[in-house]
Amino acid sequence: MWGSNALATSRLTLRRRHESDAALLRTLWTERDPRVPAHRRIDAKGRPTRTDLAARIRAERESDGPGLLTIVRKREADAIGYCGLVPSDVGGTDEPELAFELLSAVHGQGYATEAGEAVIARATARGYARLWATVWDWNVASRRVLEKLGFRELDRRGPVGPHGTTVVTVRDL
Ligand SMILES: CC(C)(COP(=O)(O)OP(=O)(O)OC[C@H]1O[C@@H](n2cnc3c(N)ncnc32)[C@H](O)[C@@H]1OP(=O)(O)O)[C@@H](O)C(=O)NCCC(=O)NCCS
Repeated sequence: MWGSNALATSRLTLRRRHESDAALLRTLWTERDPRVPAHRRIDAKGRPTRTDLAARIRAERESDGPGLLTIVRKREADAIGYCGLVPSDVGGTDEPELAFELLSAVHGQGYATEAGEAVIARATARGYARLWATVWDWNVASRRVLEKLGFRELDRRGPVGPHGTTVVTVRDL
């Protein structure tokens, strides 16, 4: 598995996800911007539940593709979000997408950038040639993180829909 060994940065550890991370993941879902499409937000029946999300984490652990890692702050010893690689809709085979999401309480402290740098370093060491990221045009914080990580925005954009449009970005390794 791509993420079986933990990664370390000066302030963070990025470790393989456990089913017990479902509580953190559910909090992240509840914090999502209302502009995020409905299928990626908690529905009127409260789904996905923690149990649903634990099952998703288990399925990812059992797959042998790249995966997401839980970000833990070293000093506070608390889990604050995830960062890692997911299969890409826009890139070629073996050109995954970088993904990250952090609890709102810790935004603006450089953690996403620090975690992203560690994931990019591992992706480079594992021989990936290119990473992609797609981001909503209104998501200025994420676009800025991607810029800091060396991704460049392409002219290619997704269709304009009720949620805005997606910006496609790429980083050669
Ligand atoms: C995107 C996200 C991961 C950023 O995490 P973070 O730890 O706060 O990121 P960093 O602190 O490393 O960097 C954030 C940058 O965005 C900038 N930023 C944040 N909000 C901004 C705003 N409203 N306008 C302009 N810049 C903004 C910050 O100033 C910082 O840039 P700087 O270092 O040049 O000052 C976090 O906001 C998040 O989890 N959002 C919800 C999930 C999400 O959008 N995931 C990405 C999907 S593509």
